[in-house]
Amino acid sequence: MMIDVSHPNAARVYDFLLGGKDNYAVDRVAAAELEKASPNVRRAVRQNRDFLGRAVRTLAEAGVEQFLDIGSGLPTQDNVHEVARRVNPAARVVYVDNDPVVLTHGRALLAGPGVAMVEGDLRKPDAILDSADARELLRPDRPTGLIAVAVAHFVEQDDLLVGVLGRFAERLGKGSVVVLTHACDEDMSPEASKAARKIYEASPTPIFPRTREQVTALLAPHVPELHPPGLVDVAEWRPDLGLPRYEHLPHEGFFLGGVGTISWTEG
Ligand SMILES: C[S@@+](CC[C@H](N)C(=O)[O-])C[C@H]1O[C@@H](n2cnc3c(N)ncnc32)[C@H](O)[C@@H]1O
Repeated sequence: MMIDVSHPNAARVYDFLLGGKDNYAVDRVAAAELEKASPNVRRAVRQNRDFLGRAVRTLAEAGVEQFLDIGSGLPTQDNVHEVARRVNPAARVVYVDNDPVVLTHGRALLAGPGVAMVEGDLRKPDAILDSADARELLRPDRPTGLIAVAVAHFVEQDDLLVGVLGRFAERLGKGSVVVLTHACDEDMSPEASKAARKIYEASPTPIFPRTREQVTALLAPHVPELHPPGLVDVAEWRPDLGLPRYEHLPHEGFFLGGVGTISWTEG
């Protein structure tokens, strides 16, 4: 596998900001530039990861026993199957990413009974669901926790994302729940937002932050109601579920997060 170490890469920049080691000099330079543009980005990334843990725990406690984690990123602490299995040791997880480095590390670290790492693209839900691993691990008659955390902002077209959710609504089991976080630059200065976008322009995955209204509109057709507290700064989503490891800064607003049941559509 050829690894492109001449351009930063979203998964590796994120890994560095989380304190991981699976990154290269070019990623660390991009992360430093991001921190210069948005000094709280490291904390925001950790809060995003903490939100993921709280959301997965909540779903597992509610009886969701299978998860599809798209844009799963480099393996780190508290991967989805680890969190879910603290609640239900039989929980099954399909991890999906389209980045070769993530796939290599994921296959080495995230494989095992009931867990698989699949090459796939958020924009192509049928290919994901038709993969042998998804067919084996995700029962279509059971609710799935569909996780799209810090990934939808790498897709520019709103209608495409709405269509993707629609396809999952048709193919996943009744009672499936989406866990979404999305970059939002509403509370950033225009200069900081521009600088952040520019950094990702140098990577294979440019970033397209959306406003709260735009994220709500993406969800509305297929996830009409979010579970309380709705679409909020990730640090404000059910902090009661455990001490947040990273203190919340008001108006940080980097990542909006929400959890909601997908309106079931006969497929
Ligand atoms: C910022 S990381 C998020 C990792 C993890 N979900 C988390 O929030 O902790 C984004 C991941 O999405 C992946 N990604 C970007 N665009 C994607 C797409 N269209 N389909 C699947 N994965 C994608 C990247 O390769 C990267 O691993």
